[in-house]
Amino acid sequence: MRLRHDPAAAPFVAAHERVLLENDAPAWRGKWRSLFGREQDAPLHLEIGIGRGRFILKSCEARPEVCFLGLELRAEMVMQAIERVKELPENLYLLQLNAQLLPELFTPGEIDVIYINFPDPWPKTKHAKRRLTAPEFLQLYKQVLRDDGEIRFKTDNEELFNWSLLTFEQQGFRLCDVDHDLSEEDSGVITEYEKRFRTKGQPIYYACAVNSV
Ligand SMILES: C[S@@+](CC[C@H](N)C(=O)[O-])C[C@H]1O[C@@H](n2cnc3c(N)ncnc32)[C@H](O)[C@@H]1O
Repeated sequence: MRLRHDPAAAPFVAAHERVLLENDAPAWRGKWRSLFGREQDAPLHLEIGIGRGRFILKSCEARPEVCFLGLELRAEMVMQAIERVKELPENLYLLQLNAQLLPELFTPGEIDVIYINFPDPWPKTKHAKRRLTAPEFLQLYKQVLRDDGEIRFKTDNEELFNWSLLTFEQQGFRLCDVDHDLSEEDSGVITEYEKRFRTKGQPIYYACAVNSV
């Protein structure tokens, strides 16, 4: 996603009361539900790479009972997500940091569902480790997802999709739902990228991968 560096973004998100950065987010490890003022059995869902935030903001509206965390590397994106709404929903906190830090942020099994929507495909083999469905990332997700917790993955990129189906299985996830042409009705909340690809008539690929013990 092309977005120019904006020197105002980092200070803006650092000062926002509903954004946590890599220095303060680990303090909530094992206690995320209490940050939301919810019971310990409340569902906790994490989206990795929220971009401009369409999916997570709409998901918060659709599922008020869920505690949502939206993780994003770039401050510019987080700022744009915040600017979409007057106020962030009470069931949302944003984390501006790298997904590589997940085990420092969550205790084993703390998360119920992880969403990965239209991640950068990194088509060159030498960049494969940067794909959010690379084995290295899947091992991090495995550490923080509960047993039988789910990764819900959408992409427009067939090569990335097929490669990811293999990495899910190789890393101990069970595929429970695979769709090579996900309909709009079955898609649930539509992401910003998804909206663009659907307008162009491109197929959307979807997989749900379960953390098998
Ligand atoms: C192509 S955009 C997709 C945005 C959104 N999910 C959508 O479907 O519209 C991918 C996003 O993932 C973020 N991202 C990439 N690698 C990341 C990482 N290691 N940790 C956190 N966010 C990451 C990027 O900054 C970018 O905003």
